[in-house]
Amino acid sequence: MDLLNKVAIVTGASRGIGAGVVDKFAMHGAKVVIADISLGETEGFADKLKKNGHEVYASQTDVTKIESVESMVADTIERFKTIDILVNNAGVWAAPGFVDRALSEPEDWDITYEVNLKAVASVTNAVVPYMKNNSYGKIINIASVGGKIGSASNPAYMASKAGTISLTKSSALEYAKFNINVNAICPGFVWTPMAISIEEQAGSNQPEYTNMAPREIYDSLVAETIPLGRDQTPEDIGNLAVFLASEFSKNITGQAINVCGGSNMD
Ligand SMILES: NC(=O)c1ccc[n+]([C@@H]2O[C@H](COP(=O)([O-])OP(=O)(O)OC[C@H]3O[C@@H](n4cnc5c(N)ncnc54)[C@H](O)[C@@H]3O)[C@@H](O)[C@H]2O)c1
Repeated sequence: MDLLNKVAIVTGASRGIGAGVVDKFAMHGAKVVIADISLGETEGFADKLKKNGHEVYASQTDVTKIESVESMVADTIERFKTIDILVNNAGVWAAPGFVDRALSEPEDWDITYEVNLKAVASVTNAVVPYMKNNSYGKIINIASVGGKIGSASNPAYMASKAGTISLTKSSALEYAKFNINVNAICPGFVWTPMAISIEEQAGSNQPEYTNMAPREIYDSLVAETIPLGRDQTPEDIGNLAVFLASEFSKNITGQAINVCGGSNMD
């Protein structure tokens, strides 16, 4: 077990990609704090893992509120005494109502900036003092291949993810001297509640997808754009997160690594 007794915080982890990361971390022996704004889903997920013998803690946390983040970090220290790994995964696609818009509006810029980018910095800032103390830490930011290639319909989200990639490099430089590795994972297509929102918006705004169900749009995009011909799963992202959280990756920092079946090779 590559992460035996390591303490990890994963934000936005009650479902989707974050839940895939938590599953893999727990399977590899880590103690995991599931920090998500949604209490019901978070507790339900934590209970399931506890029944399977894993050591996890559900924390209702809004990553955009500094008091909420500080309280989650304090609870983590009280319970588990240290923090070895942070995965900044919480993310939003856009503000509510995006399905009816053809392009990002100011409210979409605000929320994607707050959750997808600014919170990555503030959660990192809250955790790093403990990592510095230990001269050890692994930080993994969940960005997106979208942050490398852009999109005609949601520039706000793409810019937030490009910002996450840039922040990953800056943090890697800033914390290297404390033996803290900082890397980003850039997923491609992962079928989660966020993916449903993305395809609903495509269906309502792009004539070529009119009258297609979200899953049909998603499958056709996967077939058209992914050389390996298959979408990615939360487990795929979790596998790379385990590697980046382990000592197997001790000489890797400041990288933004794609898990996208070859749809982007930069
Ligand atoms: N699904 C994809 O295809 C895809 C592709 C590339 C990148 N990503 C990124 O992966 C990450 C996870 O996405 P997902 O597809 O699992 O989405 P999701 O919508 O299924 O899950 C996002 C989670 O973040 C939580 N969250 C939202 N705002 C929060 C806040 N303020 N504080 C705490 N938690 C909050 C939600 O409650 C939810 O559990 C996101 O950063 C997303 O941008 C997803």
